[in-house]
Amino acid sequence: MTTDRFGRNIHYLRISLTDHCNLRCLYCMPEDMTFRPKAELMQDDELFYLVRLFAELGFDKIRLTGGEPTVRANVVNIVRTIAETPGIKKLTMTTNGVLLSKLAAPLKEAGLQRVNISLDTLDAARFKKLTRWGSFEQVWAGIEAAEQAGLTPVKINAVVVRGYNEGDVADLARLTVEHDWQVRFIEMMPFGGTTDLQKTNVVTTAEIITRIENVTGVLEQPNGAVMDGEARIYKIPGARGEIGFISSVTLPFCAGCTRARLTADGKLRLCLLREKEVDILTPLRAGASREELREMIVDGIWNKPWGHGLAKGEIATNRVMSEIGG
Ligand code: 5AD
Ligand code: SF4
Repeated sequence: MTTDRFGRNIHYLRISLTDHCNLRCLYCMPEDMTFRPKAELMQDDELFYLVRLFAELGFDKIRLTGGEPTVRANVVNIVRTIAETPGIKKLTMTTNGVLLSKLAAPLKEAGLQRVNISLDTLDAARFKKLTRWGSFEQVWAGIEAAEQAGLTPVKINAVVVRGYNEGDVADLARLTVEHDWQVRFIEMMPFGGTTDLQKTNVVTTAEIITRIENVTGVLEQPNGAVMDGEARIYKIPGARGEIGFISSVTLPFCAGCTRARLTADGKLRLCLLREKEVDILTPLRAGASREELREMIVDGIWNKPWGHGLAKGEIATNRVMSEIGG
């Protein structure tokens, strides 16, 4: 078991498989984004070695992210190997859904349990505006494929951006009436390297709830305000699915954090919103022993920052979102 100095048990690893992406969501990266050369990214064997190391340290839950994890070569094999690693009990993925109509079934067969799919609006024109390159129909087909393949319960992630999709939140929420999905609304977070949009166009959870309730009536909080990971759970009365709110900006959930991140270039990132990282890949390539690497990880986790400083205006500027994996 790996614990930090605040007594939090850190056992959930989010691994970015690549910083590349087949979309260019405007809250995530600039359109002319430059990516890292492949040689700088963890190769498959390096990745598997590190996954085994983390599993030995008590990490039992892994989420694959990006960039867009499905554009990584051999993603199905990667999933299979990680799923077969002793100690890994949960394996999930966050994806933009673009390639899921093709990949959902093979990924499920390889051992992936669930997916979170990003979808910020049901309006095709606004979807294109937000993602720059995306097709709503393609992603919708991906969601259906995920459900059919049994990558369930499907969770939908919607980032809300003022001026783009704040008027679409009720329609997204109402997807849960008919579908057994969890639709989660994410407050946009600021990172360095992208535009000012992230600071100026945030829509708070409180406003999103009001906008939804104006259409659906008062939302229920089943079982008295339960959390599902970082999401606060609500329900439209009588709906099949649930609604979640991830309020990183207005209601941080750092106290209950159980996670660490491994960036595609092999750095242990201790907090999404703090710059602090421990380089693991460079020592691995330089021949560090298993024991030395293990110590670097344990030390890094021990010194995990308490939480982010968004309320004080502190913003991590060393990476954009797609390099860390949400
Ligand atoms: N703030 C909040 N969420 C973001 N995502 C990407 N950029 C941001 C941001 N600036 C989300 C994506 C995806 C997940 C990986 O992170 O929409 O659902
Ligand atoms: Fe790609 Fe996801 Fe970033 Fe959109 S949010 S550009 S889909 S990595």
